[in-house]
Amino acid sequence: MKIALSGIKPSGLPHIGNYLGMIRPALRLADSYQCLYFIADYHALTTLHNGSELRSHSLSVAATWLALGLDPTRNLLYRQSDVPEVMELAWILSCFTGKGLLDRAHAFKDAQAQQREISAGVYTYPILMAADILAFGADVVPVGRDQKQHLEMCRDIAQRFNHAYGDLLIVPEALIQEEVETIPGLDGRKMSKSYDNTVPMFLPAAQLRKLVMRIQTDSVPVEEPKLPESAAVFQLYRHFAGASDAEALAEKLRAGGTGWAVAKQALFDAMEASLGEARTRYREIMGDADKLAGVLRDGAERARALASARMARVRRAIGMGSSA
Ligand code: AMP
Ligand code: TRP
Repeated sequence: MKIALSGIKPSGLPHIGNYLGMIRPALRLADSYQCLYFIADYHALTTLHNGSELRSHSLSVAATWLALGLDPTRNLLYRQSDVPEVMELAWILSCFTGKGLLDRAHAFKDAQAQQREISAGVYTYPILMAADILAFGADVVPVGRDQKQHLEMCRDIAQRFNHAYGDLLIVPEALIQEEVETIPGLDGRKMSKSYDNTVPMFLPAAQLRKLVMRIQTDSVPVEEPKLPESAAVFQLYRHFAGASDAEALAEKLRAGGTGWAVAKQALFDAMEASLGEARTRYREIMGDADKLAGVLRDGAERARALASARMARVRRAIGMGSSA
């Protein structure tokens, strides 16, 4: 069976951009692929320097996958930091990664443009991401559109390595849902933990409703016709409610006489219908720390077995240890 692999950074609570852009499409692969979904905690360390928060967000990400129905016995759910082979491979791959390639990374260029301080971790982020993928021989990587360049870099790095040693690393394909554009956040920019504009997936209903009501809209008066497609609230609604309900709401908005508050209430209702039951499961899972730790321990063990088998071949090829 082919392998699908993807990760989420626990730099905050999982949000509906993660859900629509990656988690929902990734869960649909569970019947046709062996799925390896992990918590990219070492990646979160590039931005989050608070140990207890990082640990607690890691558990939230794990519980989110489980609450949404990922079966951890048929698939693998693990923490990146529990698989040290990934870090070992990251160093090896860094010797096959040109500085020019890292200089072109959007994430690094954005940080530079905003004059944020850039750590070596931010700069080499794409190498660690390539190691996450290549250590497991993943065939496909379901990700949101914002990760497309990272996947291209991963392919590039794998090809350079293979050029030297033969086809040892599997060159993965990105799996990007064409119909899911980048999901907008409360302020209309990309929903992102680093912009502080996210709608976390499993907030209590009252808090969720409050947040949905805060989504920015234009100031066209209730009675005037509106442009639904340009509004974040409508884009989000379309993903939760489906095409025909979305078209019905769009017609009302275009006709005038329907205010944005109506669209926001519709979005809240559609989110409750999609995620309400999962929230109950999420709470239960978060309430049983021992069980959750057990799932992650089991995932770590199985993930390490996979990665160490591949790493043994990589070490042999590059001339480490004995050749036998
Ligand atoms: P991150 O939270 O940055 O680790 O992202 C985890 C996954 O969610 C990645 O595959 C991202 O591409 C996806 N993702 C994050 N934010 C968005 C967004 N605003 N729209 C679509 N996909 C997203
Ligand atoms: N960089 C990804 C993000 O910010 C998270 C990630 C880390 C990842 N390693 C990965 C995604 C490997 C897919 C495969 O969203």
